[in-house]
Amino acid sequence: MPINIAIDGPSGAGKSTLAKRLAEKMKILYLDTGAMYRGIAYYVLEKGVDPADADGVKPLLPGIEMTISYDGKSGVQQIVINGENVTPYIREHRISFAASTVSKIPEVRLKLVELQRKIASERDCVLDGRDIGSYVLPDAGYKIYLDAKPEVRAERRFKELSEKGQLNGMSYEEVLADVNKRDYQDMHRDFAPLVVAEGAVVIDTSEMTAEQVVERIEEIVDCK
Ligand code: DC
Repeated sequence: MPINIAIDGPSGAGKSTLAKRLAEKMKILYLDTGAMYRGIAYYVLEKGVDPADADGVKPLLPGIEMTISYDGKSGVQQIVINGENVTPYIREHRISFAASTVSKIPEVRLKLVELQRKIASERDCVLDGRDIGSYVLPDAGYKIYLDAKPEVRAERRFKELSEKGQLNGMSYEEVLADVNKRDYQDMHRDFAPLVVAEGAVVIDTSEMTAEQVVERIEEIVDCK
């Protein structure tokens, strides 16, 4: 059975940094499941459909063929939809909330969960997301729930957006409000919401550096 490491938690808790480093260290695959929801959100917006309009989104799903590949040089995950690499567009701020909104639609989730389970059944991997330990892979070998105070997570997001030149005049307070709004939506949807999975180790990263988080995880996951 492949080793599956599930890392869940709210936005800005440090999931992707940790998942990337862990995957590199263990020489296994890193599957960023949030990028998959972002890909759908981007596609839906490009079609001029409101991500909140389930009746508008559902008919688009059969026409979406998503493939995941890894850039030969950098190893960075690429999301390809119907042959188009949408990866360069999915990190924009507008896509974050759209991804959270479109991810409320059960049919969207089921489509992506099927692909996530297939990949996880075929190879060792670290997956990060919101429902990996609770819904996608409830039998994952390791389950980690990363958390941090909203103010700290918003600070990280603010820094990230400002470094990428994507703040577009947003203040820290606006970023904090967005972080809170998205987390509320992810935690309160009906189908597979963000919860602490049964058996997950909860780590609050508010006062920790990325290195300290990796060290803490290495104590839990046997990856030396
Ligand atoms: O991890 P992220 O910020 O890239 O995820 C974007 C959105 O996608 C997130 O707000 C909710 C949704 N998502 C989800 O519902 N389930 C996952 N496993 C991963 C992401």
